[in-house]
Amino acid sequence: METKELINIALKARENAHAPYSNFKVGAAILCSSGKVYTGSNVESSSYGLTICAERVALVKALSEGETDFESIAVVSTPGASPCGACRQLLWDYTKDIPVYLSDLKMNFVERKLSVLLPYPFDNSQLISTNER
Ligand code: THU
Repeated sequence: METKELINIALKARENAHAPYSNFKVGAAILCSSGKVYTGSNVESSSYGLTICAERVALVKALSEGETDFESIAVVSTPGASPCGACRQLLWDYTKDIPVYLSDLKMNFVERKLSVLLPYPFDNSQLISTNER
């Protein structure tokens, strides 16, 4: 799939953002090795801390449908913002070192590998090498 096509899907997903508190709408689209694309938008709560980012919504939708391998993810917001730390961690846990396309609303985008966004990551390789269990 063309990068611009994935970004366009994320752009459309952004229209379903529920962001009444921040008014900052985000859309995401994750491309799986199966060829399927799962979308997400941010969903905010009146209890602000319960807010879920678009990237995690897309990833969790894919995982819960049985997807295990991922090719790339597109994230669209007005400034072409970078994923938050929580999203970087969860993406690292469940994807390989995939490209992350960060796009604004006019589809101007940059590509950042996940390992660039999350250097020296924590992951399960550290959990299973410890005796502290
Ligand atoms: N947000 C995302 O959905 N993804 C990001 O990459 C950054 C932040 C959401 C969370 C919240 O609903 C709003 O943007 C402002 O932080």
